[in-house]
Amino acid sequence: MIDDKERILLLLKERWIKGEISKERYEEMKAELLAGIKVEKKELIAEPFDEQETVQGVGLGSVLLGRYEIEMEIGRGGMGVVYKAKDIKLDIDVAIKILREDLARDGRAIRNLKEEARIAMGLSHPHIMRLHTFDEDGHRKFLVMEYIKGETLKDRLEREGKLKESEVIALSAQICDGLDYAHREKVIHRDIKPSNVMVTERGEVKILDFGIARVAADSMTRITGQATSGTLVYMSPEQIRGKDVDLRSDIYALGIMLYELLTGNPPFSGVTIEHQHLHETPEPMGDVSPRLNEIVLKCLEKGKDQRFQSAEEMKAVLEGRLELDSERAAREAEEKRRRDEALRREAEEKARREEDAWEERRRRGAAERENRKEEKRSESIFVETRGESELKKNWALTDARSIQEQGGSVFFGRIAEIKKEEDNRFRRLIGDMAKQRLGH
Ligand SMILES: Nc1ncnc2c1ncn2[C@@H]1O[C@H](COP(=O)(O)OP(=O)(O)OP(=O)(O)O)[C@@H](O)[C@H]1O
Ligand SMILES: [Mg+2]
Repeated sequence: MIDDKERILLLLKERWIKGEISKERYEEMKAELLAGIKVEKKELIAEPFDEQETVQGVGLGSVLLGRYEIEMEIGRGGMGVVYKAKDIKLDIDVAIKILREDLARDGRAIRNLKEEARIAMGLSHPHIMRLHTFDEDGHRKFLVMEYIKGETLKDRLEREGKLKESEVIALSAQICDGLDYAHREKVIHRDIKPSNVMVTERGEVKILDFGIARVAADSMTRITGQATSGTLVYMSPEQIRGKDVDLRSDIYALGIMLYELLTGNPPFSGVTIEHQHLHETPEPMGDVSPRLNEIVLKCLEKGKDQRFQSAEEMKAVLEGRLELDSERAAREAEEKRRRDEALRREAEEKARREEDAWEERRRRGAAERENRKEEKRSESIFVETRGESELKKNWALTDARSIQEQGGSVFFGRIAEIKKEEDNRFRRLIGDMAKQRLGH
């Protein structure tokens, strides 16, 4: 017994949407669940369709169109059963997906599938599974694909719980490569998820089911009348709203897948999953570097314009060749800080130079003024010392002292004049000053 109501409801809803149970059975079980009646675990285990429906008379050793010899079953999904087969004509291994009967009978789905297959067959890239053809043998309709020896990321997750950051980065870069090529060819995958990405033994990524995976889900949408379809876990807000799907919807699904690869769980789950895709911000991933967190969360932006605008851009960021928004903002802020600092230093330097120049001018002006004053003073001594008045002699003496204190050299030529004076004391003083000045 499982008693996690939310999880059970989601599982049931997914089974209904995938066409594994009828809408009536889904409603019935939902009502039972909500009424408190526990659901048997076996009801929740995906058994896509019964043997009769699935195999359509195909068994091991069957040869389709006299060319494809079925060797073994390798997987089952919403569209049908996948077999490993031998292309007898070319002697190569191929994978054959035989469509489940109800899908094979849905004329509109088949027309869509043929159209998608025709486009997908034109894709040729090392990271994209090659689709050889879409064909039919009697009532059996099937896709012939490149056989990939490896493991899906879904299998890896089941085996290992979660993947190492370095490996996720390496795988993402290859996925981006394949996506970017297809997007340039105007093909959108529309169903990126771990079961649609395989990794070969050599660590090479192969994206499966380009463009075709949604056909079955869309056929189911028409049958059930539901606006949304397929695996809700990886569905972008615009896909949920059923409008304007473009390459950035693949980027969103890739973001969900990377989140799951890194943490072991997708960011959104439970019965309110659609509401979460539309309105809730995913929790940042613990144990994951801030840079990779930002990359993944950028993929998961609700608005397409806020996501990476191409897989190429995302790859460049993953490989560190391009900055993230936060890194660009930090770099620009740092550049601005440096520019401001340089401007500030330049302004300071200029102010200092101006101050120095001003100081120099002031100093020169003062010196000139002083010189002029000194000259004037010496004149005054010369004139005054010839005078008779005691008072005037004292003034001259004071002047002479101050000039001497300032290093004046104005007396030498004037001593002769002073000598003529009758005042011996004054003459002596002036003489002393002159000697002192001359260093005697
Ligand atoms: N070309 C291939 N080479 C090798 N294995 C393949 C190939 N295509 C599919 N498989 C295997 O078959 C499994 C079923 O694939 P399928 O596409 O039918 O279902 P799915 O992707 O798991 O689910 P859904 O139908 O909901 O997309 C894959 O998980 C994978 O293991
Ligand atoms: Mg698939």
